[in-house]
Amino acid sequence: MARKHVHISIISIFTFIGAIATVSGHMYTDPASLPIKTYDYIIIGAGIGGSVIANRLTEDTNVNVLVIEAGISNEDEVLTRIPFVAPQLSPYTPYTWNYTTIPQKACNNRTMPFPRGRILGGSSSINFMMHTRGSVDDFDRIACATMDESWSWTSLFPYFLKSEMLVPPADEHDTAGQVDPALHGHLGSLFVSLSGYSFPGFDGRVVKTTKELELEFPFNTDMNSGYPLGIGYTQSTIGSGERSSAATAYLEPALERPNLDILIHTTVTNIVQTGIAGHLPILRGVRCATDPSASPVSFEASREVILSAGAIGTPHILLLSGIGNSTEIGALGIEPLLDIPDVGRNLVDHPIISFSYLVNSTATFDDLRFPGVAAEYLTQWQDTKTGLYVDGPGNLLAWLRIPDDSPIFNLHFDPSAGPHSPHFEFIFTNGFVSFTEPSPPNGSYMTIFVALASPSSRGAVTLENADPFSAPRIDPAFLETDFDIHAMRAAVQSAKRFVNSSAWADYIIAPHGAWAEVTTDDEFDQYIRDRTASEWHPVGTAAMSACDTGAGVVSPNLSVKGAVGLRIVDASIFPFLPAAHVQASLYAIAERAADIIKYDYA
Ligand SMILES: Cc1cc2nc3c(=O)[nH]c(=O)nc-3n(C[C@H](O)[C@H](O)[C@H](O)COP(=O)(O)OP(=O)(O)OC[C@H]3O[C@@H](n4cnc5c(N)ncnc54)[C@H](O)[C@@H]3O)c2cc1C
Ligand SMILES: *[C@@H]1O[C@H](CO)[C@@H](O)[C@H](O)[C@H]1NC(C)=O
Ligand SMILES: *[C@@H]1O[C@H](CO)[C@@H](O)[C@H](O)[C@H]1NC(C)=O
Ligand SMILES: *[C@@H]1O[C@H](CO)[C@@H](O)[C@H](O)[C@H]1NC(C)=O
Ligand SMILES: *[C@@H]1O[C@H](CO)[C@@H](O)[C@H](O)[C@H]1NC(C)=O
Ligand SMILES: *[C@@H]1O[C@H](CO)[C@@H](O)[C@H](O)[C@H]1NC(C)=O
Ligand SMILES: *[C@@H]1O[C@H](CO)[C@@H](O)[C@H](O)[C@H]1NC(C)=O
Ligand SMILES: *[C@@H]1O[C@H](CO)[C@@H](O)[C@H](O)[C@H]1NC(C)=O
Repeated sequence: MARKHVHISIISIFTFIGAIATVSGHMYTDPASLPIKTYDYIIIGAGIGGSVIANRLTEDTNVNVLVIEAGISNEDEVLTRIPFVAPQLSPYTPYTWNYTTIPQKACNNRTMPFPRGRILGGSSSINFMMHTRGSVDDFDRIACATMDESWSWTSLFPYFLKSEMLVPPADEHDTAGQVDPALHGHLGSLFVSLSGYSFPGFDGRVVKTTKELELEFPFNTDMNSGYPLGIGYTQSTIGSGERSSAATAYLEPALERPNLDILIHTTVTNIVQTGIAGHLPILRGVRCATDPSASPVSFEASREVILSAGAIGTPHILLLSGIGNSTEIGALGIEPLLDIPDVGRNLVDHPIISFSYLVNSTATFDDLRFPGVAAEYLTQWQDTKTGLYVDGPGNLLAWLRIPDDSPIFNLHFDPSAGPHSPHFEFIFTNGFVSFTEPSPPNGSYMTIFVALASPSSRGAVTLENADPFSAPRIDPAFLETDFDIHAMRAAVQSAKRFVNSSAWADYIIAPHGAWAEVTTDDEFDQYIRDRTASEWHPVGTAAMSACDTGAGVVSPNLSVKGAVGLRIVDASIFPFLPAAHVQASLYAIAERAADIIKYDYA
């Protein structure tokens, strides 16, 4: 991808974009400069969870809210607004926590980049914008595990609608048969649209394959119905050719409210006990600092602290606060505050690999390697918000299951949520993209990403040390179970059958690179272990569980168990990883959480 050239040309459009941003109001960069130290609610992290809650709570002019965010403002970050350059916003950038996993033992001991957003909007300001809800089974399983029907698909459905506004694609093409408007919200503030720049030769062949091999690869008009299985058009959080994020959709519209203060460039170091209620600690204190050498500043919530620092940040802060496995915390010299051994456990993420083919076409985006071409697309985006740059990479997606009679299930339990939940995903990309290999200098390509949608491996986030400014230890435990490696191999073999249809006969010239040599099971496994990366969907590290069980971290109302005044609203609360890109369900969960909080204090 033409990273360098986009960065150079971007300067010329800076003024233009500046006119779009409307940020003002109560934005602070120094905790010592805030006029007050007590708020009704203090929200830690301005990602999806934090931004949605901040917006909804400040609808009530009688409450005041402080949001504390470690990262920068999104206001002037032009790159975050251009959908196609999403791959340039990570892994090691000014917008990210530059995390790296520990060596992954089932992936030949490779470490992997593990980016998380560090900017207003959190990871929604840097993600690939794919908007997929998951299946009815994913949410019904969560309802079942938490013994709370209000987390079921049916109960959550109104919140999926509440968060979104379905808008036309950037090219305003006729979307009949590509999306079902009846399944979507039309009044929310998060823009959702279909891709606005089609590749007829490539996209057309994907759709043609769904006709030719309909049994294995059926077409699905709208995979956000709760029944995602099949192949369909990608829906993304994009409106009028620009990224829509938690920052643009939820924070920016609330910035003019006098009851919202936002403190950026400030890292929360720990949560502090402020009292005791019965025998339960009250956890309404928050300590933060701009950098390791600055003196920390404390704030207090009169109602609640809402922890929304994400699947890595949230367990990190809890552990630093003494909330977790007391033995492990104590061993690092941190005073244990609350013994909840599951904090940081149950980390689950989607492993993903890709392979590419040299193709008989010039209509791929590989021509971006020519600086003039990249500059032209950028100008087109700047002038008209049309062209290649209006979309993230991948106009079509597949969600598929391993057949029920596969021998895999004689050896392993099925970790998927149910018959409507996929085991694996394909993302079809009209050019060369790889998380693990350099782009070739010439040729036109297509790439298929294959991800495990329902992995059974579980990892953990633990403390490396007691320094709040150093990274935690991140272990997604990719492919550590037999099921996961078997399922990944089955997924890749399914992708091979996909490209073996006649639709690709005059298109694919040859497999690229090491992929050409892969035929035996052992070779598949080696290819997979050598190339697996994160799809960047970590969840589960402060999992929700039923009220009366000792396991888990939060109750179904998202309150931290065994404490008062602390709630968690972010990706860490999922007890299971939905078989989907997770942002859509996070917006819905955060919308619902806002209602729970409002109801509790009504
Ligand atoms: C590169 C990438 C691509 C992705 N692509 C997609 C996609 O296409 N579709 C999809 O659905 N999902 C995608 N995701 C995942 C999705 O964006 C995340 O699951 C989602 O944003 C998580 O929301 P969250 O509220 O849990 O945390 P986040 O959005 O990560 O927000 C957490 C916030 O808390 C802040 N924070 C953390 N620690 C502290 C601290 N100590 N003090 C103060 N602030 C703190 C962070 O800086 C951040 O702003 C992607 C993620 C990444 C990283
Ligand atoms: C991550 O790396 C980028 C690029 O080197 C840097 O600008 C940024 O400050 C780093 N972020 C953190 C949190 O260290
Ligand atoms: C990975 O590292 C561990 C510990 O150092 C070692 O025992 C193991 O053999 C390594 N595995 C591979 C595939 O290199
Ligand atoms: C807490 O951590 C210790 C040390 O790692 C471990 O032995 C113990 O099993 C953990 N406790 C629980 C309940 O997981
Ligand atoms: C790329 O260029 C090299 C060197 O000129 C040539 O050998 C190779 O065939 C080219 N590959 C493609 C795919 O065009
Ligand atoms: C590809 O298709 C041909 C003809 O339909 C078939 O004989 C062959 O087994 C297929 N190969 C794979 C890998 O599916
Ligand atoms: C490439 O496509 C053209 C038609 O566009 C076709 O005539 C030709 O046979 C194809 N080449 C290969 C190698 O499939
Ligand atoms: C959340 O649910 C738990 C368990 O039912 C309950 O003890 C707690 O009081 C609730 N918290 C709030 C803030 O409603």
